[in-house]
Amino acid sequence: MNAAELQKHLEEHGQQHVLKFLDDLSPADQESFSKTLSAINFEQLNDLFNASFSESSWAELAAAAKVPPAKTLEDFANAESYADARAKGLETLAGGKVAMVIVAGGQGSRLGFDHPKGMFPIGPVSDRTLFQIFFENVKARGAESNTTIPLYIMTSPPTHVETVEFLTANDWFGVAESDVRVFCQGTMPAVDENGKLLLDSKGSIFQSPDGHGGTLKALEVNGCLDDMQQRGIEHLFYAQIDNPLVQVCHPALIGYHVLAASEMTTQVVRKVEPLQKVGNVVEVDGVVQIIEYSDLPEQYARQTNDDGSIKLWAGNIAVHLFTYDFLKKSVANADSLPFHRAHKKVPFIDGDGNLVTPESPNAFKFEKFIFDLLPSAQNAIVCEVDPAEGFCAVKNAPPATSETPQHVKDAIVALHRSWLESAGAKVSEGVKVEISPMFATDRESLVKKIEAGTIVDSDKFFDA
Ligand code: UTP
Repeated sequence: MNAAELQKHLEEHGQQHVLKFLDDLSPADQESFSKTLSAINFEQLNDLFNASFSESSWAELAAAAKVPPAKTLEDFANAESYADARAKGLETLAGGKVAMVIVAGGQGSRLGFDHPKGMFPIGPVSDRTLFQIFFENVKARGAESNTTIPLYIMTSPPTHVETVEFLTANDWFGVAESDVRVFCQGTMPAVDENGKLLLDSKGSIFQSPDGHGGTLKALEVNGCLDDMQQRGIEHLFYAQIDNPLVQVCHPALIGYHVLAASEMTTQVVRKVEPLQKVGNVVEVDGVVQIIEYSDLPEQYARQTNDDGSIKLWAGNIAVHLFTYDFLKKSVANADSLPFHRAHKKVPFIDGDGNLVTPESPNAFKFEKFIFDLLPSAQNAIVCEVDPAEGFCAVKNAPPATSETPQHVKDAIVALHRSWLESAGAKVSEGVKVEISPMFATDRESLVKKIEAGTIVDSDKFFDA
């Protein structure tokens, strides 16, 4: 598009304000700005800005909802069922059929950390970063099965370069570089409360990563799906960088997924409170999907079973397993994953060229969610995990009272203390313990490493 065409195009969509400072830009900057603007789908942006989903539609869905086929903690505690699932999972891992993707493209705005979230030091004794914990888990889990687990790390334009530099400088935390691919997700422009684009400099508009649902398309366009195919990968284990408790490539979880011929398996926690702030994994007329806590009308959230337990109990923790075939099939429809609207604070350049930093939300960002793949998955199941064993995400900085780094550190210590105690060790009150996956990947493998009666009476990091 030449300058006149671009001007006309923007005017047609009421977005010509973004050209106000065009004359201040160098010819090269003008060209790259024009290219960005020409690529924007304004019809789509406008539809997203105006879209709404009425409360009555959610109520209709919620009224018909039940929990999908589930493997509960009872199944995991049942010796026979667990042994079958674990054996199948180990066989699948040993066959080199499992890869892992970690999404780390978010901007971590609530945490207020000035680097990619994966670089946040979370090890309660070791100070290891989130990246290190995940990389070591992937390496150790692969080694247990005499195989390697290829690792795909999704970044975004704001986090990509620093992530690659950090991982390179740390020698990929012992994982072979040839088994890791760092790939960048797409972006989506944000708009203000009148649907107008926001300038983040005189020659660029504000864009944000297109949500963790952007993973699907990004895996495809960056050649990760081809790479998986060449390596004979059949299952992709998905997790988010901010939950260091993730049971990375847990054999029994993989086993239940394979035995159920599930195209997409979701790990869930049992809600302890009807209005708990987690997405609700439900099945409506045979279709598995998630109703966000904010969309689930209270009367349906409060429904109970005959024994008084919560009916819609399955809370999403963003740990999934996909079959390769399902991902490949879904790529063709990647563009049809819906965008969700979030009201956020976005600094911008105003009409006088000054930077404005808003104190309350002033803009809408649009993000896709990975769990919107669920409705098209065949045989989707959910697998329950005890949150103490598998879920504690770092989201907020103090003075917030939940999901802070301290909560997560405490959860790691509590979990590893309980592993040590199961192995017969005695950990003195108030002592902090942390176990590297290079020492033991889980409760079962720790038993073989610790002598019963071992006393731990000062803070200790158990490393390889
Ligand atoms: P959140 O939605 O919690 O976002 O992402 P965030 O970036 O960590 O934090 P806030 O909301 O800005 O404070 C959950 C997970 O999804 C990833 C994040 O990196 C995190 O692991 N994510 C999110 C992406 O990879 N890309 C996105 O566009 C959004």
